[in-house]
Amino acid sequence: MKVLVIGGGAREHALCRSLSQDSDVTELHCAPGNAGIAQVATVHPVDQLDGAAVTALARQLAADLVVVGPEAPLVAGVSDAVRAAGIPVFGPSGAAAQLEGSKAFAKDVMAGAGVPTARSYVCTTPAEAAEALDAFGAPYVVKDDGLAAGKGVVVTSDRAEALAHAASCERTVIEEYLDGPEVSLFAITDGTTVLPLVPAQDFKRALDGDEGPNTGGMGAYSPLPWAPEGLVQEVLETVLQPTVDELRRRGTPFSGLLYAGLALTSRGTRVIEFNARFGDPETQVVLARLRTPLGGVLLASAEGTLGALEPLRWDDGAAVTVVIASEGYPAAPRTGDPIEGLAEAEAADGTVYVLHAGTAAGADGSVLSAGGRVLSVTATGTDLAEARTRAYRGIGKISLKGAHHRTDIAEKAAR
Ligand code: AMP
Ligand code: GLY
Repeated sequence: MKVLVIGGGAREHALCRSLSQDSDVTELHCAPGNAGIAQVATVHPVDQLDGAAVTALARQLAADLVVVGPEAPLVAGVSDAVRAAGIPVFGPSGAAAQLEGSKAFAKDVMAGAGVPTARSYVCTTPAEAAEALDAFGAPYVVKDDGLAAGKGVVVTSDRAEALAHAASCERTVIEEYLDGPEVSLFAITDGTTVLPLVPAQDFKRALDGDEGPNTGGMGAYSPLPWAPEGLVQEVLETVLQPTVDELRRRGTPFSGLLYAGLALTSRGTRVIEFNARFGDPETQVVLARLRTPLGGVLLASAEGTLGALEPLRWDDGAAVTVVIASEGYPAAPRTGDPIEGLAEAEAADGTVYVLHAGTAAGADGSVLSAGGRVLSVTATGTDLAEARTRAYRGIGKISLKGAHHRTDIAEKAAR
C-alpha cells in the first residue's frame, strides 16, 4: 500500500519510521516532512492546512491511505477533504477534531458521556472569570478555549496572572485543579471499536524537576512501572469507549487517534484533556514498543474494520525519548544553526535513533535547526534504566549551539 503522511515533526518521523518497517507499505510519502523524514520517505512541499492541496497530492501519488499527523490540519478539516475524494484517511473529521479544537466542546462531550473530568466553567468576560477563579480557589487553572499548541494553559497560584491569562483569551475554560501524576493513554478507533495503546508519560515543563514554562513536551517514556494494575482497562471503560460512543451518537463519529491526557488523583482518574491525534513526544516511545505492523492498523481505522484486527502486540521492554530544544525555546526559539553528531548518536543495532522535529536540510548535506523542538533522541532497552542510559549517551554525541534538554526524563520511574 502507498501511504502519505501529513506533517513534519518528530511524531511524523516516528510514524514514518514505523511505516517504513512495515512490509505492506510499498511506498511512503510525507508532506511537508523534514530533513530526517526525507531519509525514510519521499517528501513533498504542501500547505498542510489546505485540504484541496493535500487531496491533489494524494491523488497524484495514488495514495491508498493518508495519515494526518498534527491537530491544525485536522481541525481545519483536511481529512474531510481527502475522505470526500474517496481516499481512506487516518484522522478524525474537522467536526470530531473539535474534541481537541475546543476545550468547551470537549467538556460538553464528557458531560454527555459521563466521563470523569475536572469541574469547570466556560467564561467570556473578566467578571465571569473572576467568579470562577474564586469558586475553585488556588491553584488556578485557566485554559484558552481554542487551539494553542500546548501554550494555552496557565496553572498558577497568582490570581492576577490567572485573570490576565483569562483576559488575553476570547473564551476560557476555568477549572478545578487536579492533583496527581499524569498519564497519556492513546487509543486507535474507527468510530466504534476502540484499541488502547500502551500508556506513556510526558514531561511538559521546560526544565528539570518540572520547573519552567509549559512546552509541547520535553521527553517521554513507556511503560509506567508505577501505574496501577488495570489502568488501561479502566480508562477504556470509563473514558475512551464512552467518548467514542457519545461522538457517534452526536452524528460526529471520531476515527483516528484519541489521546486521553489523564490525572490519577486521590479521588480517581480524571481527564485533563483530549487530543485528536498522536501526542508528541509520547508517540516516539509508544511506537518504539509496537510490534504489530503499523500500516494495517491505521488502514483498519480508516476503513472501519478495527473490530476484525488481531490484538496488538507489544515489546516487553522500555523506551525513552529526550527532546533537544533550541536556544530560547519555548519563548523565542533560535533557528538556522548547524547540528553535528546525528549519525554518531545512533546505534547500529537500532536501539538508539534520532527523530527529527524542527530540522531542515542545509547546503552540502548539513542539517540545520528549524524550530523550537529540534530532535527527539529515542532509545529502547530491556528496562527504563537501560533505555534511559542509551538515550542520554545519544544526546551526548549531538551538538547544536545553545540547545537545551532535560536531564531527568524517566529518572524517577527508572529507580
Ligand atoms: P493541557 O493543554 O490541557 O494538557 O494542559 C497542559 C498541562 O497543564 C497539563 O499537562 C497539566 O500539567 C496542566 N493542567 C491542565 N489542566 C489541569 C488541571 N485541571 N489541574 C492541574 N493541572 C492541569
Ligand atoms: N505531549 C503532549 C501533546 O502532544 O499534546
